[in-house]
Amino acid sequence: MALERTFFIVKPDAVEKKKAGAILARIEQEGFNVVALKRLHLSRKQAEGFYAVHRERPFFGELVEFMTRSPVVVGAIEKDNAVAEWRKLMGATDPAKADPNTIRKLFGANVGENATHGSDSLENAKIEIAYFFPANELV
Ligand code: RTP
Ligand code: MG
Repeated sequence: MALERTFFIVKPDAVEKKKAGAILARIEQEGFNVVALKRLHLSRKQAEGFYAVHRERPFFGELVEFMTRSPVVVGAIEKDNAVAEWRKLMGATDPAKADPNTIRKLFGANVGENATHGSDSLENAKIEIAYFFPANELV
């Protein structure tokens, strides 16, 4: 297994509920190292750019509205097999379908407001980390 980095977002719903700390604690408990972290309020342009792959999907407008309504916490985390391991820890996109004790089961409200984002491939993890962090902020 290879040491990988992946990218996460604690989405507005979870930050509003003051669950960012609990989610970060869980990330550390599960053996990830946090290599970059910040809190910010996404602009419409930033959210549209980040989710550009979904721009033709019917939920795109709703997704951008949601992701820009209040601050998020974004970060890069490192572990063996981090991309798959973080998606496993998050659980299914729809919290109702997520396995017990996953982050989306514990903290997600519905398929749109599902607490966290995780990169879906190593290639996209690199692109997403670079979207938010210059190389000298990965430590
Ligand atoms: P993410 O990118 O946020 O980690 O989530 P994911 O891979 O599990 O799901 P994806 O298909 O990439 O969808 C991105 C985000 O769009 C919202 N969504 N809403 N209303 C809907 O049917 C719907 N489907 C997806 C969710 O916030 C989802 O995480
Ligand atoms: Mg996705």
